[in-house]
This record gives sequence, structure tokens and C-alpha cells, in this order.
Amino acid sequence: MVLRSQVLGCGGYLPERIVTNAELAKRIDSTDEWIVQRTGIRERRVAADGELTSDLAVAACREALIRAGIGAAEVDLLVVATSTPDETFPATAARVQAAIGMTGGAAFDVQAVCSGFVYALAVADNFLRVGQAKTAIVVGAETYSRILDWTDRGTCVLFGDGAGAVVLRAIEGQGTIEDRGVLSTHLFADGRYHDLLYVNGGPSSTGTAGVVRMEGREVFRHAVVKLAQAVDAAIAANGISSSDIDWLVPHQANLRIIESMGHRLGLPAEKVVVTVDRHANTSSASIPLALAEATADGRIKPGHLVLLEAMGGGFTWGSALVRW
Ligand code: UT7
Repeated sequence: MVLRSQVLGCGGYLPERIVTNAELAKRIDSTDEWIVQRTGIRERRVAADGELTSDLAVAACREALIRAGIGAAEVDLLVVATSTPDETFPATAARVQAAIGMTGGAAFDVQAVCSGFVYALAVADNFLRVGQAKTAIVVGAETYSRILDWTDRGTCVLFGDGAGAVVLRAIEGQGTIEDRGVLSTHLFADGRYHDLLYVNGGPSSTGTAGVVRMEGREVFRHAVVKLAQAVDAAIAANGISSSDIDWLVPHQANLRIIESMGHRLGLPAEKVVVTVDRHANTSSASIPLALAEATADGRIKPGHLVLLEAMGGGFTWGSALVRW
């Protein structure tokens, strides 16, 4: 018998305020048409004044716990993926832990920018598979609106705020491809690409939070190649073919990247979960938000084979294959 991390439930939270492309186009030299054509984004959510990353995370966790049908007291591991923490320290996870009423176990943040959820999922999965924890919540939560240069049209139109959470439990099984749970995770990083996507501040450099700087075209070029590498690794490690995949749930950075990955896998558009049109790029929150949506509306069902992939600053990238 082997332990595997089964998904018990997902939750998501989006701030109330919707900012449309038209609203942005009043402030910067851009148009709704350009943004939709180049990115697929139509609108994004922006957190209210005083609404913090931890607030978004807590709302997502609460919904995930309800859908999982368990209480916070049963959770002994909380991993929050974020690159927009409330404070330099302690970890945003500590605030979330207190707010949801989880008093035991471990709570910490993982920082891998847009790949953060896949990284955090891999960390939690490893804790559960070796028996160091039994029930985990993995959260992706971001308030990118706070680290955008709202005068830079090349970046400010791309991002949004939000949070998503997934509850996992270690359950014994035969360890076959049919058994439910996380089947594999593959993580990659190459810090030589720092300058293509970074935030120009931080506690040890400028003492301020800084704003996002990105060479969009270059990041796009690398994303397509690196995501293909991550996806191929998942397929090879599990001995499956792409036609076995029921759902592709990609990081939501750009509809053109999402479509190119779907196309490469030979998946019809109906098998690819897309939220980028309404959420924009919510960094580490984009995958769990998409999972929360596609499980709540009944698209993703128990037994389905779900492939996750993401790429972001660092560079970091990775994939996870989950039997739902
Ligand atoms: O989540 C982490 C990973 N991030 C990504 O995967 C993002 C990857 N990159 C992208 O999604 C795309 O590269 C962008 C959406 C950022 C840009 O699209 P693009 O097709 O690569 O455009 P570009 O950067 O090559 O720019 C084309 C033109 C430029 O004008 P010139 O130099 O041709 O005159 C830009 O200045 O579009 C201009 N431009 C804009 N025009 C109107 C850039 N941003 C805007 C804008 N509105 N918001």
C-alpha cells in the first residue's frame, strides 16, 4: 500500500471590484481590442483598500474546507503560495492559519511566482506521501494590483487579484494510475532568466515592495518551450498519452499560450479550463481558482485525469498530474 494525496475539495475567492479593459484604456495608451487580441483578457478583479492577500486566501480556504466537508482542526499542513505577501514576515500562511482556526501543524509560504501553486502542491504532496502530515491545504493567493506600475501598459493590463485553495488528504491505495490523488509533480527553475521577469524592489535591496518588470515577448517565447518540457515530463513519468487527459488546467497568463499548449497536446478547447478572460493573470492563484470553478460547475469529476502546468518569474516552471 502507498500513500497518495487525494483532493477532498477546492475553493476560490475573487475581490468584488471588476476593472474592465475599457476602464484601463482611459488611463493608459491601450485599447480593449489590443488587450483581448494579444492576451484574451477582458477584465480582472482588484482587491479593495485594506483587503490583503491573507483575506483572499482565508475566503478561499473556508470555501475549500466546506466543499471538502472537514473542519480546520483536521488540517495539519498549510502551504500558501504567494509573491505578494501581507508583510515581509511572518509568512502569510501564519495569518491564514490563525484566521481559519487551525491551531496545530505547520504553516509556511512558498515563493515561486506564477508557478507557486504547482510548487506548493509538490511540497504538500511530498509531506503527505512520507506521512509527515495527513491533511493539507494548498493555497495560491495574490494581490498583484499592489505591485503593478499602473503607467506601464506592457504589464498593468495583464494581472489581477484572487485566491484559490485545495484540500488534500493522504489516503492509502495500490498506487496505480487509476487510484485517485496526485500522480506526479515535476518542478524546474533557471535563475539565469531573472531579468526577464522580476519585481524591482524588496526588503534586502530597496526596502520597498517594488513593481513588476517584464520583457513580455521574451517571457512568452520561453513559456511555450518550458511548459512543453514540464508537460512532457508528466506524460512520460506516468506512461500515459495526451489523449488520456480529461482536463488541462494551465496557469492563466495569456490565452495564446494556453491555446498553444492545448493544441500541442491535441486537446479540444472543451478540455482546457480557461479563466484568463475574467480573472487575468492572478499568478499563483490562477490554477486553484480555475480548479475551484471547474469542480463547482461539474466539469472536473472524480476519476478524471487533470494536468496542471505553470511558468513564471525566476524562471520557475512545472507540472502536476492528478487523478481527481
Ligand atoms: O505569468 C508569468 C508568465 N508571463 C507570461 O507568460 C506573459 C508572456 N507574455 C505575453 O503574454 C505577451 O508577450 C504580452 C501580452 C505581454 C505582449 O504581447 P506581444 O504580442 O508579445 O506584444 P509585444 O510585447 O511584442 O508588443 C507589441 C506592441 C509594442 O509596440 P511596438 O514596439 O510594436 O510599437 C508594445 O509597445 O504592442 C505594444 N503594447 C501595447 N499596445 C497597446 C504593449 N502593451 C500594450 C498595451 N496596449 N497594453
